[in-house]
Amino acid sequence: MAHRLDPLKLPAHIAIIMDGNGRWAARRHLPRVQGHQAGVDAVRDAVEACARMGISVLTLYAFSTENWKRPQLEVTTLMRLLKRYLKQERHTLVEHHIRFRMIGRHEGLPADIRAELASAERETADAAGMQFNIALNYSGRAEIVDAARRAVALGLGADALDEQRFGSLLYTAGQPDPDLLIRTSGEMRVSNFLLWQIAYAEIHVTDVLWPDFRCRHLLEAVLDYQQRERRYGGIKQPARRRRSP
Ligand code: IPE
Ligand code: IPE
Ligand code: MG
Repeated sequence: MAHRLDPLKLPAHIAIIMDGNGRWAARRHLPRVQGHQAGVDAVRDAVEACARMGISVLTLYAFSTENWKRPQLEVTTLMRLLKRYLKQERHTLVEHHIRFRMIGRHEGLPADIRAELASAERETADAAGMQFNIALNYSGRAEIVDAARRAVALGLGADALDEQRFGSLLYTAGQPDPDLLIRTSGEMRVSNFLLWQIAYAEIHVTDVLWPDFRCRHLLEAVLDYQQRERRYGGIKQPARRRRSP
């Protein structure tokens, strides 16, 4: 399938709503936390596959501000898995020149997780390869409110504020907007993810549950993306006529 990819039409930024861990576990009569555990392998795969494909930015939605509503055991398991992932995968990130970044609100996260995130960010800060964002304790609306607060704190007047300036106050400042948004497990919603940045993202929803999501599914999504005609509100570009000799 990889040979069908057009290397000149790769999405610069892929964002993924990793969904369906609970259903994956339920189908196997396992507790939900086992689904999250299995989901870590899919994270590993996606990060490496995107880095190898030459994607500039990958953003994975790992934990929303709304996910705190879940049972305590599930929340602590997710935090534990994240911490373990960061410890175990550090060398892979460094090896692939991946720059790691957490996007979301730091307040409210356990101190040990914040320390682990900060150390992964520090260690990969100078990497020149793929930017890898993990959205954690993340809410698209909160991100927009935080940007507005920063604008106020900076004393930016109405004249100084346009879309570009506002974008530079978001967690993803300096990064291209997602070209491709993938959601696994079939749900047709954005669940408060990158609300500002997905204005013109192409959306690919697959029924595959996150723990089953592998490199071939990623390729499928990118191939689907490459078939799309992006218009940005304009009209279909007419095919160029060949000039007669
Ligand atoms: C995604 O899987 C993981 C997180 C939201 C942290 P879910 O846990 O939402 O799985 P489903 O949607 O219940 O199947
Ligand atoms: C979105 O999945 C959040 C993450 C993937 C982290 P959810 O499972 O929380 O979303 P809803 O509740 O189905 O909208
Ligand atoms: Mg879900």
